[in-house]
Amino acid sequence: RSPRVCVVGSINMDMVTTTDKVPEQGETVLGESFTTYPGGKGANQAIAAARLGADVVMVGAVGEDAFGKSLKERFRNEGADNEAIIAVPHESTGVASIIVSDGDNRIIVAPGANKYVTPDLIQEKQDIILSSDIILMQFEIPMETIEFTVNLAYEHQIPVVINPAPFADISETVAEKAAFLTPNNLELSEMKQSIDTSLIKGKIIETRGEHGVVFTLSDGEEKKVPSFKAEVKDTTGAGDTFNGAFVTEYAKEKNIEKAILFASAAASLAVEKRGAQEGMPARAAVVQRMQEADR
Ligand code: RIB
Repeated sequence: RSPRVCVVGSINMDMVTTTDKVPEQGETVLGESFTTYPGGKGANQAIAAARLGADVVMVGAVGEDAFGKSLKERFRNEGADNEAIIAVPHESTGVASIIVSDGDNRIIVAPGANKYVTPDLIQEKQDIILSSDIILMQFEIPMETIEFTVNLAYEHQIPVVINPAPFADISETVAEKAAFLTPNNLELSEMKQSIDTSLIKGKIIETRGEHGVVFTLSDGEEKKVPSFKAEVKDTTGAGDTFNGAFVTEYAKEKNIEKAILFASAAASLAVEKRGAQEGMPARAAVVQRMQEADR
């Protein structure tokens, strides 16, 4: 059967402006184009997993507005379960203002309804959450919800993967009870300053963009998976694709190294199109990329 993946996380509408020149403080510049794309780290990771064949449940919140309605519907169109997405009255759907310049991005998120992904919501939806093989979370929802979900999942022996983005300090409980943490290089150096690193030994999967992925086995041996070649148009959502793909493959095969390779190939395809979700591949495309690279 397909792996059951539960994503507890954010849902945003991305407002993407592309520009040659990024303005300095107090400066106005003329950009090139503007497009809205569905986004949010949680939603992106859920859609990535669904496209790769996982049976996905999204737990999240949108506002009772036009963005919320279309974003919620999108999950069903992608074959993911959207029954655990609530619509919050008098609150706007999360919005991300994104500047894309030279293929790279700068993002500001206004969380809006994402703040309502609370421990109460997790409790309400716990049957559906606890029927999954693996749970994936990021840091665009309240930290108390992360903490609550990690504890609940741990009690029921369901592995939790935490993508600590955007970075926030994590508690010892989260560090101890998560199965894997997937920071990028910046998030990892911040994490190392705020937590006893012995707690996270053997569970860090560090993503370094074009420089590949580094992870340490529990015996301390460091392994590196080089990235796949890609024609980069927009890196927004690359990390999310990696995470969605990693949990899907890990839940299936329980092989960390294979799952990282698969996820890296998936991420390399995602960056070749504009918008976080537009370039997220189906399984066949990932397999083809791995074959073409002879890996
Ligand atoms: O990781 C990319 C995502 O971060 C965007 O889709 C944006 O919504 C922000 O959440």
